[in-house]
Amino acid sequence: MRVVISIGGAYFADAVRIKNMAAALDELVEHPSGCGLYAVTGGGAVARHYIAIARELGANEAICDYIGIALTRVNARLLISALRNAYPEPFYDYTSVRAKLPELESCGKIAVMGGVTPGYTTDAVSAILAEYINADLLLNVTTVDGVYDVDPRKHPNAKRYSRLTAKELVRLTTECDLRAGSRIVIDPVAAKIIERSGIRTVVLDGSNPRNIIDVIINGRQHGTEIT
Ligand code: UTP
Repeated sequence: MRVVISIGGAYFADAVRIKNMAAALDELVEHPSGCGLYAVTGGGAVARHYIAIARELGANEAICDYIGIALTRVNARLLISALRNAYPEPFYDYTSVRAKLPELESCGKIAVMGGVTPGYTTDAVSAILAEYINADLLLNVTTVDGVYDVDPRKHPNAKRYSRLTAKELVRLTTECDLRAGSRIVIDPVAAKIIERSGIRTVVLDGSNPRNIIDVIINGRQHGTEIT
Protein backbone atom coordinates (compact mmCIF):
# COMPACT_ATOMS: atom_id res chain seq x y z
CA MET A 1 0.00 0.00 0.00
CA ARG A 2 1.30 3.47 -0.92
CA VAL A 3 0.30 6.22 1.52
CA VAL A 4 0.81 10.00 1.51
CA ILE A 5 0.56 11.61 4.96
CA SER A 6 0.10 15.34 5.29
CA ILE A 7 1.17 16.32 8.82
CA GLY A 8 -0.14 19.62 10.22
CA GLY A 9 2.47 22.11 11.40
CA ALA A 10 1.31 21.76 15.03
CA TYR A 11 3.14 18.41 15.19
CA PHE A 12 6.51 20.15 14.75
CA ALA A 13 6.15 22.53 17.71
CA ASP A 14 8.50 20.53 19.99
CA ALA A 15 10.84 17.53 20.00
CA VAL A 16 8.41 15.23 21.87
CA ARG A 17 5.65 15.67 19.28
CA ILE A 18 8.11 15.17 16.42
CA LYS A 19 9.53 12.01 18.07
CA ASN A 20 6.02 10.56 18.62
CA MET A 21 5.04 11.20 15.01
CA ALA A 22 8.35 9.81 13.71
CA ALA A 23 7.97 6.65 15.83
CA ALA A 24 4.54 5.96 14.28
CA LEU A 25 5.87 6.52 10.74
CA ASP A 26 8.89 4.27 11.38
CA GLU A 27 6.59 1.56 12.77
CA LEU A 28 4.43 1.79 9.64
CA VAL A 29 7.29 1.54 7.18
CA GLU A 30 8.82 -1.36 9.14
CA HIS A 31 5.49 -3.25 9.25
CA PRO A 32 5.48 -6.57 7.34
CA SER A 33 2.66 -5.25 5.11
CA GLY A 34 5.42 -3.25 3.34
CA CYS A 35 3.78 0.15 3.24
CA GLY A 36 5.37 2.90 1.07
CA LEU A 37 5.25 6.19 2.97
CA TYR A 38 5.45 9.78 1.75
CA ALA A 39 5.24 12.53 4.40
CA VAL A 40 4.40 16.19 3.72
CA THR A 41 5.16 18.60 6.57
CA GLY A 42 3.14 21.71 7.42
CA GLY A 43 4.51 25.00 8.73
CA GLY A 44 2.37 25.60 11.84
CA ALA A 45 2.55 28.54 14.23
CA VAL A 46 6.17 29.34 13.34
CA ALA A 47 5.21 29.80 9.67
CA ARG A 48 2.25 31.99 10.64
CA HIS A 49 4.52 34.04 12.91
CA TYR A 50 7.02 34.81 10.12
CA ILE A 51 4.21 35.40 7.59
CA ALA A 52 2.66 37.96 9.97
CA ILE A 53 6.00 39.78 10.29
CA ALA A 54 6.49 39.81 6.50
CA ARG A 55 2.95 41.13 5.97
CA GLU A 56 3.58 43.90 8.52
CA LEU A 57 6.68 44.81 6.50
CA GLY A 58 4.53 45.17 3.37
CA ALA A 59 5.36 41.84 1.67
CA ASN A 60 2.73 40.69 -0.83
CA GLU A 61 0.86 37.37 -0.44
CA ALA A 62 3.13 35.44 -2.83
CA ILE A 63 6.21 36.52 -0.84
CA CYS A 64 4.41 35.51 2.37
CA ASP A 65 3.67 32.13 0.76
CA TYR A 66 7.37 31.64 -0.02
CA ILE A 67 8.17 32.39 3.62
CA GLY A 68 5.59 29.75 4.63
CA ILE A 69 7.16 27.27 2.19
CA ALA A 70 10.60 27.86 3.72
CA LEU A 71 9.26 27.02 7.18
CA THR A 72 7.52 23.83 5.97
CA ARG A 73 10.92 22.76 4.62
CA VAL A 74 12.54 23.42 8.01
CA ASN A 75 9.94 21.08 9.51
CA ALA A 76 10.75 18.48 6.85
CA ARG A 77 14.36 18.55 8.07
CA LEU A 78 13.20 18.19 11.69
CA LEU A 79 11.08 15.14 10.82
CA ILE A 80 13.96 13.58 8.88
CA SER A 81 16.20 14.11 11.93
CA ALA A 82 13.77 12.12 14.09
CA LEU A 83 13.11 9.24 11.66
CA ARG A 84 15.13 6.02 11.51
CA ASN A 85 14.00 5.26 7.96
CA ALA A 86 13.95 8.60 6.18
CA TYR A 87 15.46 9.37 2.80
CA PRO A 88 18.20 11.72 4.08
CA GLU A 89 17.26 14.87 2.16
CA PRO A 90 13.86 16.59 1.84
CA PHE A 91 12.30 16.64 -1.64
CA TYR A 92 11.47 20.00 -3.23
CA ASP A 93 9.22 18.88 -6.07
CA TYR A 94 6.91 16.05 -7.13
CA THR A 95 8.98 14.78 -10.06
CA SER A 96 12.03 14.02 -7.90
CA VAL A 97 9.86 11.89 -5.59
CA ARG A 98 8.35 9.97 -8.51
CA ALA A 99 11.77 9.41 -10.05
CA LYS A 100 12.98 7.84 -6.77
CA LEU A 101 9.90 5.64 -6.17
CA PRO A 102 11.53 2.25 -6.88
CA GLU A 103 14.55 3.04 -4.71
CA LEU A 104 12.44 4.44 -1.86
CA GLU A 105 10.11 1.47 -1.76
CA SER A 106 12.70 -1.27 -2.24
CA CYS A 107 14.81 0.21 0.59
CA GLY A 108 11.83 1.02 2.88
CA LYS A 109 12.69 4.73 3.02
CA ILE A 110 10.19 7.48 3.87
CA ALA A 111 10.26 10.48 1.51
CA VAL A 112 9.68 13.80 3.28
CA MET A 113 8.81 17.13 1.65
CA GLY A 114 7.37 20.50 2.60
CA GLY A 115 5.67 23.10 0.38
CA VAL A 116 6.24 23.65 -3.33
CA THR A 117 4.43 26.63 -4.90
CA PRO A 118 2.63 29.81 -3.69
CA GLY A 119 -1.17 29.83 -3.74
CA TYR A 120 -1.99 26.74 -1.73
CA THR A 121 -0.92 24.84 1.40
CA THR A 122 0.72 21.50 2.11
CA ASP A 123 -2.80 19.95 1.99
CA ALA A 124 -2.71 20.56 -1.76
CA VAL A 125 0.93 19.42 -2.00
CA SER A 126 -0.01 16.09 -0.42
CA ALA A 127 -3.08 15.69 -2.69
CA ILE A 128 -1.04 16.45 -5.84
CA LEU A 129 1.73 14.10 -4.70
CA ALA A 130 -0.81 11.36 -3.96
CA GLU A 131 -2.32 11.76 -7.42
CA TYR A 132 1.08 11.91 -9.14
CA ILE A 133 2.48 8.75 -7.54
CA ASN A 134 -0.87 6.85 -7.64
CA ALA A 135 -1.09 6.52 -3.86
CA ASP A 136 -3.78 4.23 -2.43
CA LEU A 137 -4.54 6.51 0.48
CA LEU A 138 -4.11 10.15 1.49
CA LEU A 139 -4.08 10.89 5.22
CA ASN A 140 -4.50 14.46 6.35
CA VAL A 141 -3.26 14.56 9.95
CA THR A 142 -4.49 17.65 11.72
CA THR A 143 -5.40 18.80 15.24
CA VAL A 144 -9.17 18.42 14.83
CA ASP A 145 -10.84 15.02 14.63
CA GLY A 146 -12.17 15.41 11.11
CA VAL A 147 -14.05 17.80 8.84
CA TYR A 148 -16.77 19.99 10.38
CA ASP A 149 -19.43 22.16 8.76
CA VAL A 150 -17.86 25.23 10.47
CA ASP A 151 -14.58 25.72 12.40
CA PRO A 152 -15.05 23.76 15.69
CA ARG A 153 -12.40 25.95 17.39
CA LYS A 154 -14.75 28.92 16.97
CA HIS A 155 -18.19 27.25 17.00
CA PRO A 156 -18.90 24.82 19.86
CA ASN A 157 -22.00 23.45 18.05
CA ALA A 158 -20.10 22.60 14.86
CA LYS A 159 -21.18 19.32 13.25
CA ARG A 160 -18.54 16.69 12.42
CA TYR A 161 -18.90 14.49 9.36
CA SER A 162 -17.76 10.88 9.63
CA ARG A 163 -18.13 10.50 5.85
CA LEU A 164 -18.22 13.06 3.08
CA THR A 165 -18.15 12.89 -0.69
CA ALA A 166 -15.36 14.79 -2.45
CA LYS A 167 -18.03 17.00 -4.05
CA GLU A 168 -19.36 17.94 -0.60
CA LEU A 169 -15.80 18.65 0.56
CA VAL A 170 -15.28 21.01 -2.41
CA ARG A 171 -18.51 22.81 -1.54
CA LEU A 172 -17.48 23.19 2.12
CA THR A 173 -14.02 24.56 1.27
CA THR A 174 -14.71 26.96 -1.60
CA GLU A 175 -15.58 29.83 0.72
CA CYS A 176 -12.24 29.52 2.55
CA ASP A 177 -9.68 32.27 3.00
CA LEU A 178 -6.63 31.44 0.82
CA ARG A 179 -4.28 34.13 2.13
CA ALA A 180 -0.83 32.99 3.33
CA GLY A 181 -1.00 31.32 6.74
CA SER A 182 -4.80 30.83 6.80
CA ARG A 183 -5.97 28.15 9.22
CA ILE A 184 -8.24 25.81 7.28
CA VAL A 185 -8.73 22.06 7.72
CA ILE A 186 -8.40 21.27 4.00
CA ASP A 187 -7.59 23.94 1.45
CA PRO A 188 -9.87 24.28 -1.60
CA VAL A 189 -7.12 23.35 -4.08
CA ALA A 190 -6.58 20.09 -2.18
CA ALA A 191 -10.34 19.44 -2.19
CA LYS A 192 -10.50 19.86 -5.99
CA ILE A 193 -7.53 17.52 -6.52
CA ILE A 194 -9.10 14.93 -4.20
CA GLU A 195 -12.32 15.23 -6.22
CA ARG A 196 -10.70 14.84 -9.64
CA SER A 197 -8.34 12.02 -8.65
CA GLY A 198 -10.91 10.06 -6.63
CA ILE A 199 -8.20 9.16 -4.13
CA ARG A 200 -9.42 7.72 -0.83
CA THR A 201 -8.75 10.39 1.81
CA VAL A 202 -9.02 10.41 5.60
CA VAL A 203 -8.83 13.57 7.72
CA LEU A 204 -7.96 12.71 11.31
CA ASP A 205 -6.54 14.01 14.59
CA GLY A 206 -2.90 13.00 15.02
CA SER A 207 -2.60 13.84 18.75
CA ASN A 208 -2.46 10.09 19.26
CA PRO A 209 -0.27 8.94 16.35
CA ARG A 210 -1.48 5.36 16.92
CA ASN A 211 -4.69 6.43 15.14
CA ILE A 212 -2.61 6.72 11.96
CA ILE A 213 -1.41 3.13 12.35
CA ASP A 214 -4.97 2.07 13.14
CA VAL A 215 -6.32 3.52 9.89
CA ILE A 216 -3.53 2.21 7.65
CA ILE A 217 -2.80 -1.21 9.12
CA ASN A 218 -6.05 -2.15 10.89
CA GLY A 219 -8.42 -0.40 8.46
CA ARG A 220 -10.30 1.22 11.37
CA GLN A 221 -12.32 4.39 10.95
CA HIS A 222 -11.06 7.61 12.59
CA GLY A 223 -11.95 11.19 11.71
CA THR A 224 -13.66 11.87 8.39
CA GLU A 225 -13.45 9.59 5.37
CA ILE A 226 -13.76 11.30 1.97
CA THR A 227 -14.90 8.99 -0.79
P1 UTP B 1 0.83 24.90 5.73
O1 UTP B 1 0.59 23.83 4.78
O2 UTP B 1 1.45 24.57 7.03
O3 UTP B 1 -0.48 25.75 5.97
O4 UTP B 1 1.75 25.99 5.02
P2 UTP B 1 -1.75 25.38 6.88
O5 UTP B 1 -2.32 24.11 6.39
O6 UTP B 1 -2.61 26.59 6.85
O7 UTP B 1 -1.18 25.28 8.36
P3 UTP B 1 -0.94 24.09 9.40
O8 UTP B 1 0.52 23.75 9.32
O9 UTP B 1 -1.80 22.90 9.02
O10 UTP B 1 -1.30 24.69 10.71
C1 UTP B 1 2.06 27.23 5.67
C2 UTP B 1 1.94 28.36 4.66
O11 UTP B 1 2.97 28.20 3.67
C3 UTP B 1 2.50 28.60 2.40
C4 UTP B 1 1.07 29.12 2.61
O12 UTP B 1 1.10 30.50 2.87
C5 UTP B 1 0.62 28.36 3.87
O13 UTP B 1 -0.41 29.03 4.56
N1 UTP B 1 2.60 27.48 1.42
C6 UTP B 1 2.79 26.18 1.86
C7 UTP B 1 2.53 27.73 0.05
O14 UTP B 1 2.36 28.87 -0.37
N2 UTP B 1 2.69 26.69 -0.82
C8 UTP B 1 2.90 25.39 -0.42
O15 UTP B 1 3.07 24.51 -1.28
C9 UTP B 1 2.93 25.14 0.96
